Amino acid sequence: MHYFDLDDRHKKDAYRILSSLVTPRPIAWTTSLGDDGVVNAAPFSFFNVFGTRPPIVIIAPGDKEPGIPKDTARNIRESGEFVINLVDSPLMRPMNLTAAEKPYGVSELKDLGLTLEDCAHVSVPRIGNCPASLECTEHSTMQIGQNRLIIGQVHRVWARKDLFSENSLDFHQENYAPIARMGAPDWYARTDDLFSLERPD
Ligand SMILES: Cc1cc2nc3c(=O)[nH]c(=O)nc-3n(C[C@H](O)[C@H](O)[C@H](O)COP(=O)(O)O)c2cc1C
Repeated sequence: MHYFDLDDRHKKDAYRILSSLVTPRPIAWTTSLGDDGVVNAAPFSFFNVFGTRPPIVIIAPGDKEPGIPKDTARNIRESGEFVINLVDSPLMRPMNLTAAEKPYGVSELKDLGLTLEDCAHVSVPRIGNCPASLECTEHSTMQIGQNRLIIGQVHRVWARKDLFSENSLDFHQENYAPIARMGAPDWYARTDDLFSLERPD
């Protein structure tokens, strides 16, 4: 086995090693609003749901440089609101294009042919092309070194009609295939090779 000591010799390699091994990760394509009214979009795969009572998600933008937040983190600090849009295969290219480092106030969404739709609980729009979106307010943000763990409370979930039966809420997994982040620097996976496994009693 290789071993990597992240406290010393491999400190600089922590991103490459951990982000390659801890996979697959879902992608939070996050929209937020600047104080200039510009809609910002950026993908974050340091993301997951961490509880449901109340419903809590975390995204973790790393700082651009020590003490300087990425635009998403800056917008959320200022407005306390964001939307997580979930990404499937048809959206992988526009999602990737929004990872470009644009100057603050320049929207990554320009010319991507995406539709922005109003939300109910937050003034940030959601990306209407996505299979699902989560309207969030900032619960709190934990700063650990250059990581900002933004804890969001989810208030409304938008889901394409074919994902859940209207009354029973049965989930139709066969209609939902989000893409997943795999090893560094830019591997991804499709999630349409499905099986189910019953839990023991
Ligand atoms: C699929 C994908 C996942 C990403 N995940 C993260 C992440 O978890 N944390 C992070 O800081 N940057 C991540 N990035 C890079 C950001 O999207 C990129 O820095 C972006 O420009 C940030 O935009 P903003 O400054 O508008 O917030 C990811 C990029 C891609 C393509």
